[in-house]
Amino acid sequence: MDIDRSLEIRADAVARICLELKSLLADVFVLYLKTKNFHWHMRGPHFHDYHLLLDEHADQLFAMTDEIAERSRKLGGATLRSIGDIARHQRLKDNDKERVPAEMMLTELLADNQSVTTYLRSAHEVCESSNDVATVSLIENWIDQTERRCWFLAEITEAE
Ligand SMILES: [Fe+2]
Repeated sequence: MDIDRSLEIRADAVARICLELKSLLADVFVLYLKTKNFHWHMRGPHFHDYHLLLDEHADQLFAMTDEIAERSRKLGGATLRSIGDIARHQRLKDNDKERVPAEMMLTELLADNQSVTTYLRSAHEVCESSNDVATVSLIENWIDQTERRCWFLAEITEAE
């Protein structure tokens, strides 16, 4: 029986997908560290709740990193190698400010998680048009998790 070559992931598509995944991984590391930063430096009357919420979000983000990196390797591509490599690929901005009020922390995390949702949707398009159904399926889960973080952050910031 002949193999339908039209269903294969072409080499140029692999390169595009792995580049998408590399940028995505850089952003997820940036958001992971920012979420931990705000978890560590949280202050104010809601310290306990926010401190715990951000730790939960950081755990989800950290779990994503290995899945993103290993997906590239499964496709035969490379992934990030260093902190410098993260800095070269990140689209999200760091926040090195000494004092950030609690509400501003949550507002910024909401905006960053919304940006990640957009990046995920754009990566989804690239993978879908290249027959990469496995990455598509992973991305759909990551979008759902990211939208859950957005939901929690939006409910808190709107109530503030
Ligand atoms: Fe902690």
